[in-house]
Amino acid sequence: MKTIVIYKSKTGFTKKYAEWIAEELECNISNFEDFSQSSISDYDFVIYGSRIHAGKVDGLKKVKALFADNINTMLVVFATGATPSAAEDVINTIWQASFSEEELNVIPHFYMQSGLNYSKMGVGDYLIMKALAKMLSSKKDKNSEEAGCEQAIGSSYDISSREYIAPLIQFIQKQALNK
Ligand SMILES: Cc1cc2nc3c(=O)[nH]c(=O)nc-3n(C[C@H](O)[C@H](O)[C@H](O)COP(=O)(O)O)c2cc1C
Repeated sequence: MKTIVIYKSKTGFTKKYAEWIAEELECNISNFEDFSQSSISDYDFVIYGSRIHAGKVDGLKKVKALFADNINTMLVVFATGATPSAAEDVINTIWQASFSEEELNVIPHFYMQSGLNYSKMGVGDYLIMKALAKMLSSKKDKNSEEAGCEQAIGSSYDISSREYIAPLIQFIQKQALNK
């Protein structure tokens, strides 16, 4: 079973999850930019990991397009985000914004909670987060969701953990048994 994990990561959370997954599956790993797209057909599974950005999986459109001509390779997606895993409704909305109805059924996808890292964020992202924080702090009559969001984005935090890779690992191992 030939598998590779390819990832995009700005502040390190997705990279860390990608490394844990590659370690557990004892498979190849590559940064998306360094990955040779022509080698997709060499793999049984390509696991693509990226961050959630404004409610969508970052870079996914480009990756999905690469698989149109590679029907023998299975694309598996994982996404990291600041939203806690328990917020199932929010996470479902993210999947619906990232995949079509058909893709939701055929592309396996896994969510892994991460956090926020202001010290490694690009300037654009930093300014967006600070503007959102300012907007929320000046808003009167905040609902509980807005109050929770304001508290969550106030500073850096890390709620990532290796345990969250387990469902993806089990999925791949099960597929490998059936091949
Ligand atoms: C501008 C911006 C928008 C974000 N939007 C979301 C979001 O909609 N939902 C979410 O759960 N996390 C969101 N996040 C948090 C990131 O998805 C999270 O920090 C991710 O793990 C970063 O991955 P990386 O460290 O690999 O770059 C956002 C972060 C930034 C900076």
